Amino acid sequence: MDPNKRPETMERITTPELAKAFIDEQVAAVKEQVGDKKVLLALSGGVDSSVVAALLIKAIGDQLVCVHVNHGLLRKGEPEQVVQVFKEELGANLVYVDAVDRFLDKLAGVDDPETKRKIIGAEFIEVFAEEAGKLEGIEFLGQGTIYPDILESDGVKAHHNVGGLPDDLQFELVEPVKLLYKDEVRVVGKELGLPDGMVYRQPFPGPGLGVRCVGAITRDRLEAVREADAIVREEIGKMDPVPWQYFVAIPDVKSTGIKDGKRYMGWAAVIRAINTVDAVTAQSVEIPWDMLCRMRDRIIAEVPGINRVLWDVSDKPISTIEWE
Ligand code: XMP
Repeated sequence: MDPNKRPETMERITTPELAKAFIDEQVAAVKEQVGDKKVLLALSGGVDSSVVAALLIKAIGDQLVCVHVNHGLLRKGEPEQVVQVFKEELGANLVYVDAVDRFLDKLAGVDDPETKRKIIGAEFIEVFAEEAGKLEGIEFLGQGTIYPDILESDGVKAHHNVGGLPDDLQFELVEPVKLLYKDEVRVVGKELGLPDGMVYRQPFPGPGLGVRCVGAITRDRLEAVREADAIVREEIGKMDPVPWQYFVAIPDVKSTGIKDGKRYMGWAAVIRAINTVDAVTAQSVEIPWDMLCRMRDRIIAEVPGINRVLWDVSDKPISTIEWE
């Protein structure tokens, strides 16, 4: 039997009971696979790696070492939430790496989107490999591979994600959710007790806010993206149903504003909300006017440097979901 093929008889995990049975089965399988050895896991705080972390903590406790690399391109509050949930609440063996300066220094002045992606991917692997090199006795690598990653190995995610682990980090893989679809991973995460903010999180690109700080990344504009994004997530998150993906991009362009009778130059924050099934095509979502006005007022009042707010109503094709 091909271990990377989902058996046709496998029931879709839709209920807490089915999730519990899956967790029990995987806990036993991981214990069997790993024995008393150690597993290393890159924990980004996204749904897949978080669910794998929680599952492995349940199975092997502190034989799991999680490494969280803060590259400075995460959304507001995310690194703090990873530490709070995994270190404080679940007692994980978590290595937190503050790599913000390393990433932003490497990215300074780089405006080509694919070069930015490559730098972020390569630097991530370097930081992760450095941390792995400091640890003794690691024999396995945990991974949040899910079934669509296997099915679409030449799909959108594979197309965007660059790099792989170097040869000396080619440990045997532990991939407990590799036969699950995203909705099933969420049901399992909920059953494992992860907070809703983590389990129902919208998709977020690997290079993070790096591709939403359009053009060459500067620290001040990156902070503006992070703050404006937090406001937009809070407001659009109140829609029912919530769109599939919604965020802010800030292009490297300034336009005129006027304050206290004086003209000055500031950035324009672009709000984008889309629905899609497979991210291959996407439709712009209609945002209620009063919500748009509230976001406009809050962004202008709360985020330094922004003096204009735009709504991107483009569909894919022709516009991709991200701005770069
Ligand atoms: P585009 O912009 O190509 O995005 O329409 C399609 C989906 O992929 C996400 N995306 C990425 N995901 N690494 C990722 O893991 C990336 O470099 C990347 N770029 C875009 C995007 O957020 C959307 O969901």
